[in-house]
Amino acid sequence: MNQQVLSTPEDLFRYQLRSVLTMEHHSLEALGDLHEAASDSKVKKLFSHHADETREQIDKIGKVFAAIGVHESSAPSPATTGIKDQAASLLGKAEPKLQNQIAVMSALGNEHFEIASYDGLILSATALGLSDASSLLQENLDQEVHTSKELRDVLKDLLSSS
Ligand SMILES: [Fe+2]
Repeated sequence: MNQQVLSTPEDLFRYQLRSVLTMEHHSLEALGDLHEAASDSKVKKLFSHHADETREQIDKIGKVFAAIGVHESSAPSPATTGIKDQAASLLGKAEPKLQNQIAVMSALGNEHFEIASYDGLILSATALGLSDASSLLQENLDQEVHTSKELRDVLKDLLSSS
């Protein structure tokens, strides 16, 4: 791996954008795993819908690289590997009746991490005068915020019916 030192806010923005690309690929994998673990049709539908959105988000990140004139590449995202590992561990320990709840809570945790990541990137892009990048990233953030609300509603429904 390239051990370059990040010395400017631009370096940091580009590196974090590369990590966010990996984050979205992890999200796509996690949504597939969680879709498999869930049995509730509403939960499954929400995961499939957000998987479609996540594919669009990955394309949009490609457009951000193009907008800032940087060749697209990825960087590690250990946090989202951890969120995925934690979900797998909990799913492995719990009885079937708890799997929907675990899947939704895990997806919610992932969304909140994504929201924080985009929030920071958008503030950085704006400070760097990268308005096209900022608008594209905002579209992804809006989808994550919307999804987190839907997940929260589904979680409330699950908890009240269990
Ligand atoms: Fe996402």
